[in-house]
Amino acid sequence: MSTETLNKTAHTSTTDFLPLQGTDYVEFYVGNAKQAAHFYKTAFGFQSVAYSGPETGVKDRVSYVVRQNKLTFVLTTPLRGKNMIADHIYKHGDGVKVLALRVDDARSAYQETTTRGGKSYMEPTVLKDEFGEVVLSGIHTYGETVHVFVERKNYSGAFMPGFKKWESHYNPVDTGLLYVDHCVGNVGWNQMNPWVKFYEDVMGFKNILSFDDNDISTEYSALMSKVMSNGNGYVKFPINEPAEGKKKSQVEEYLDFYDGEGCQHVALATADIVKTVTALRDRGVEFLRVPSSYYDDLLDRVGHIDEDLEPLKELGILVDKDDEGYLLQLFSKPIQDRPTLFFEIIQRKGAKSFGKGNFKALFEALEREQDARGNL
Ligand code: FE2
Repeated sequence: MSTETLNKTAHTSTTDFLPLQGTDYVEFYVGNAKQAAHFYKTAFGFQSVAYSGPETGVKDRVSYVVRQNKLTFVLTTPLRGKNMIADHIYKHGDGVKVLALRVDDARSAYQETTTRGGKSYMEPTVLKDEFGEVVLSGIHTYGETVHVFVERKNYSGAFMPGFKKWESHYNPVDTGLLYVDHCVGNVGWNQMNPWVKFYEDVMGFKNILSFDDNDISTEYSALMSKVMSNGNGYVKFPINEPAEGKKKSQVEEYLDFYDGEGCQHVALATADIVKTVTALRDRGVEFLRVPSSYYDDLLDRVGHIDEDLEPLKELGILVDKDDEGYLLQLFSKPIQDRPTLFFEIIQRKGAKSFGKGNFKALFEALEREQDARGNL
């Protein structure tokens, strides 16, 4: 997937009843949106885009929109207790609420998905202001996570009606993050296949890759995963479920602390992972570390790579290959105190896969952290 994908016209065939143009935004419900926005600007290099709150006529919440290239995050917090956002944060902690998908026609997206069994979250809703109109609709997915379909072809404002442009004197330089590569959901025992079926039946996605517990197991724990992709491949949702192991699966730890199913990680694409991870580390973002022995036979495993080995080793960046090329990737530590949501930084050089060759090293690194928390 190139960085140009979001604005290109999707190659829709007659069978794609839900043509998607890419991820429109990811909305996080957080305990303190003002501080979260500062964190994403300072640590990750996002820019201020838009604001909504009492000053724009929204009385129950505040939202900050930040952006880096084609990556848009919305950080939302409730202004009082006893509402759905406050309940969400009380139960789950900070986490992903909305995986918003850009469509040409939000009414059609709603009609097509709800008639196929999608549970309504938001009926088609038209929002207007002096910059035009945005049409939103939405359906529920795993846990309390939702997909909102965003039609914004007739809108020229900063984000959408209800928001005002947010101008700030504080504009930290970006870190080279480009767009959402994929978003992973963690679901409960025996729930992977039902959710695979949901994405197939309700959204017309295809299962493009599957990993069983033999692929993804360490000495102690295991998980299973299936990767779902929409027709043009712009939107990919791997679904994980725990598998039996000697000890507790990392997916179980997530389910315990998130108190249910939810988004485990959002993978953010870069065109220069060494530069991006160096910048993120300099700004305080913490990443998982693999043992340095990982690099001893790396080139034997993956063949020639364009990058120097030394900086990869220094930063702990992992490399894997498939038939079409290779990829470089790294997982952050959880980005809140609960061991739930984290980010992956990924650079694809031809490879369309998800780093199966790195799963063991990555998950062992994850388990060391899990063990340190007393949750293994
Ligand atoms: Fe991933």
